[in-house]
Amino acid sequence: MGYFRENIDKAIAYEPGFQPKDADVVKLNTNENPYPPSPRAMEVLEKTGPEKLRRYPDPLGNQFRQAAAELHGLSPDHVMCCNGGDDLLNIAFRAFCDESRPVAYPVPTYSLYPVLANLQNCTAIEIPFDGEFNLPARLAATGAALTIVCNPNAPTGSLVKVDELACLADEISGVLLIDEAYVDFAESDCTRLVRDFDNVIILRSMSKGYSLAGIRFGYALANPELIAGLLKLKDSYNVDAVAIGVATAAIMDRDHFRKNIEKVKAERTRLTSQLRNLGFKVLDSSSNFLLASHKHANAADVHQKLAARNIYVRYFALPTLRDKLRISVGTTQQNDTLLAALKEILHQKEILHQ
Ligand SMILES: Cc1ncc(COP(=O)(O)O)c(C=O)c1O
Repeated sequence: MGYFRENIDKAIAYEPGFQPKDADVVKLNTNENPYPPSPRAMEVLEKTGPEKLRRYPDPLGNQFRQAAAELHGLSPDHVMCCNGGDDLLNIAFRAFCDESRPVAYPVPTYSLYPVLANLQNCTAIEIPFDGEFNLPARLAATGAALTIVCNPNAPTGSLVKVDELACLADEISGVLLIDEAYVDFAESDCTRLVRDFDNVIILRSMSKGYSLAGIRFGYALANPELIAGLLKLKDSYNVDAVAIGVATAAIMDRDHFRKNIEKVKAERTRLTSQLRNLGFKVLDSSSNFLLASHKHANAADVHQKLAARNIYVRYFALPTLRDKLRISVGTTQQNDTLLAALKEILHQKEILHQ
């Protein structure tokens, strides 16, 4: 058309996971939490009156900042509310990257990073993880303005130790953004690094651990000076009034949160061992999804056969991932439906014989 900037013209848009309209499906393709959000959050939603909708929201979402600060033992000026974690990624790319300021990250990882790099017209330095998904040593020496480590990583579910990320923050000259969208399902998190380093930004999402993917709410934790800089780039009202209230109630309901996480983790353990019993190779996961491959079954084909049964998992046609399926951990019933379908598919292919 010629109207767009050259890199936008050439850009390939991020492809979100398929969102089937039919409610009667087993949806294990976009890592949503299978259990409902906090009843306290639902109460806030139900009590939302017209005044709340008529007026603009608090531009900073201070009610949520306060609650998140208390949870993490920080002050509200360490917190920025975002329209989902993706909003923070967008802001970070605009804040730190351009034609002469590259981004670096280990791969495979969240497929939104290269899309944002492309839009920002910055070089993306992609450094492969080793076979064990250890942090690549070369990541410390890229000279990138922004280094991103997704931890736990998507789509592998692997977790890098906090001390290793502390060393990385210390070694690099730019900003280290640790994408902790899935950290609620892990055994450790990096919030303490926000106090120790002035170049660390932690991304948190309310979509996974809090079952709130539909309201689009996430937040950044960072040194107050970094937060002040990031605030300059956000939309004036980047989080809406309803979302601020609902997310605040959800993050304060620790009891519901803990029970929800424990249920997902228990199902994660069960699903992992059941898939292994079917002959799948499954990586140990610190997240709410599993990455699985089968020596004798073509992943794209299994993906299609599952979809034909209204069971959706995620398949990435990328060189390092094309033999694998990413499966979100569902409810016991959803996981059982998936396992029964996989058994049937493997039988049909004469991979399973009993
Ligand atoms: C690794 C990673 N980071 C960030 C996000 C953003 O999550 P949200 O925008 O729903 O908070 C996602 C969503 O799937 C993700 O997988």
